[in-house]
Amino acid sequence: MDRSSYKIFSPGAIAGLTLSNRLVRSGTWDPSIHNSRQMSEAVLDLYRQVALGGVGLIISGGFPVYRERFPEEEPGLPPRLYADMRIDGLERLPEAVHQARPDCKIIAQLEPGYMESGPSPVVTVFSKDPVRPMTAAEIETLVGCFVTAIMDMQSAGFDGVQLHAAHGGLLSRFLSPLYNQREDAYGGTVEKRVHILRQIATRARQQVGDFPILIKMNGTDDMEGGVDIHNFPALADAVVRAGVDAVEISGSTWDCLFRPEEELGFRPVPAPESHTRIQNPEQQSYYLSYAEQVRLPVPVILVGGNRDIERMEAILQAGRVDFMALCRPLIREPGLPARWKAGLGSKTPECTSCNSCIYALIVHPGQPEPGLVSCICKTDKKMHARAQRWIASWVKKERQAQ
Ligand SMILES: Cc1cc2nc3c(=O)[nH]c(=O)nc-3n(C[C@H](O)[C@H](O)[C@H](O)COP(=O)(O)O)c2cc1C
Ligand code: SF4
Repeated sequence: MDRSSYKIFSPGAIAGLTLSNRLVRSGTWDPSIHNSRQMSEAVLDLYRQVALGGVGLIISGGFPVYRERFPEEEPGLPPRLYADMRIDGLERLPEAVHQARPDCKIIAQLEPGYMESGPSPVVTVFSKDPVRPMTAAEIETLVGCFVTAIMDMQSAGFDGVQLHAAHGGLLSRFLSPLYNQREDAYGGTVEKRVHILRQIATRARQQVGDFPILIKMNGTDDMEGGVDIHNFPALADAVVRAGVDAVEISGSTWDCLFRPEEELGFRPVPAPESHTRIQNPEQQSYYLSYAEQVRLPVPVILVGGNRDIERMEAILQAGRVDFMALCRPLIREPGLPARWKAGLGSKTPECTSCNSCIYALIVHPGQPEPGLVSCICKTDKKMHARAQRWIASWVKKERQAQ
């Protein structure tokens, strides 16, 4: 059945940006370009395939704008700033997408990279020791790096940027009442927890005008005392007032993997925002209830387990969500939007949400292309089997190490 008349295949807008349809490729990490600091032809090809496959908008993998030294690096090294990590040939990425399909847009995702410090000295399972609280001067430098990166992405030809403030990363921690216990300008109330975003958006606007600035944020941290379904609506309101043009709703932090499955309501696996075992409708679109709690004056993008095109259409028709985002299904089948639109094959993706692609990036970044994301489950049965063993044992091993 041809689905061209569906709302999901109708144009939508984010700020001044017109999108040809309401399917978004959610941020998907590209470690190879960060290791070499150079855009590679293999990564460009991957993005061309996604563009040709029919999505309205591609959100890139996260580009780090500021990071502290890795544990294996010499102690005492100053943090790396955006300018130290800029990718040579960055502008080739939006150019490749726009040339492949002129009505496909691409937004650059920006995130702090590896950080041992954070908003407050909270002990997290992964830091093991209390996090070192950032000084006001360090936060000022971080804000400056975001602004520089936003300006650079506009000059490079991207259609906008997305601030990655989900999954327990540094911005996500500033937003969270669990991880942010500061009592200065950056914490204490919801308004103060979003102050860092307000500073980034306000300063960036002075330089880039109405260039779209989106955010990906948690509807839930899946941690007691963190962002949850009760405090998320007020937080989302404050985030929008801070100056963002669209909100992508995601969730979770790696710390939650230490909670039992019965409490979490899903299997604790790396990475927790990418649930496995998505079979029946209740397991799909697993952050929908968070989107249903908010009434925002900007578009809402829903990510996480969106699998059945008919169910996705029904969610859009219900009017609380404006765009549907997918990650893993488009790793396996970049041509999925075009296939769905033409009514070919199954109404669900071939992707089984097994998370082997995550293993391949994290544990074996040299396979099969250096740090290039691919569907291991389809292409490398041996690595897929190893990945599934790793996924099954990872949480147990981490718990034992505590
Ligand atoms: C291999 C892989 C890489 C990812 N990289 C990023 C990333 O760079 N930035 C981000 O915000 N989310 C990243 N995610 C999370 C996805 O964007 C998405 O939120 C999550 O997988 C749930 O959506 P899905 O069920 O459609 O896969 C990644 C997920 C996977 C599987
Ligand atoms: S390895 Fe393939 S099937 Fe498994 S989650 Fe990744 S894309 Fe989907």
